[in-house]
Amino acid sequence: MRVLVLTSGGDAPGMNAVLHHLTKFLTRRGHSVFASKHGFQGLLDDNIIALNTALTKPHMFFAGAFIKSSRCLEFKKKKGQDRAVETLKKHNIDLVIIIGGDGSYQGAISLAKLNQKVIFLPATIDRDLQYDTYSTGFYTAAEACAYYISKVKMTMQAFDRICIYEIMGRDNPSLTNLVAKKVNADLVITKETKNKLDLDAFAKAHAKNPVQTVVLQERLFPISYVENLLEEKTGGGIRSCVIGYFQRGKEPTRQELSMAKLFAKQAVNNIKNKNFNVAVAIKNREVLNHKLV
Ligand code: F6P
Repeated sequence: MRVLVLTSGGDAPGMNAVLHHLTKFLTRRGHSVFASKHGFQGLLDDNIIALNTALTKPHMFFAGAFIKSSRCLEFKKKKGQDRAVETLKKHNIDLVIIIGGDGSYQGAISLAKLNQKVIFLPATIDRDLQYDTYSTGFYTAAEACAYYISKVKMTMQAFDRICIYEIMGRDNPSLTNLVAKKVNADLVITKETKNKLDLDAFAKAHAKNPVQTVVLQERLFPISYVENLLEEKTGGGIRSCVIGYFQRGKEPTRQELSMAKLFAKQAVNNIKNKNFNVAVAIKNREVLNHKLV
């Protein structure tokens, strides 16, 4: 088969490992592997390259997406999707493997509806897929945050300061919640908790131990608003950090690398079993397929 892979949306640590394992398993079985550069945008621009393991291997232990990613608004429209299908036809592509988050999942559904064979592999630090699955990058992003916070905490201790850490994850509080657990946060502000924060209890805890760790889900409030709120309550010295892209840039953990391999293996099993138009899921290390359409 001629298989095209693409990475789309926010990159997630482990995407490069998925790409490498896919390329390795597919070429070993005699398939030809191609990539669309910059995700769906590459299909619109006819930006297609051939992949081999000599190209993929050097990137496998690093974060990012070496075949590039993008958020392609044009592909959301039927006209863009038709152009993408034309490019797939031009290159005689038999199957598209899409690696990404929720937006990419929607893209996979659109291509499947246009009679293209598609397999979707979840990779996003947000873990916000509309079906139940682990997504590549999530654990590594949580580890990155915990590492970052553990270092900043050292200097917060020297000054007895409260620190607010803003965590990515879009509308999904999962990443903030996992980080909160890992760092034993004193206050967790997510879309689930924002209306029931016990700031008096927080002020009391601060009086006993001035160094308090606050984790804040992104896109809820401006960080300066939370700083002011806590300062009013505690009178304490407050600092804040937006952890941001550091979360996406950390090299994938060993656990992440082994999950990346599992995702790639399942994609290849699906090809062997002619099981197309599915999204792969990992739940408690069990690998499953979820129907796309
Ligand atoms: O979707 C992944 C993500 O990292 C979100 O957590 C974050 O809100 C967003 O991407 C940032 O997007 P961009 O890379 O376009 O700035």
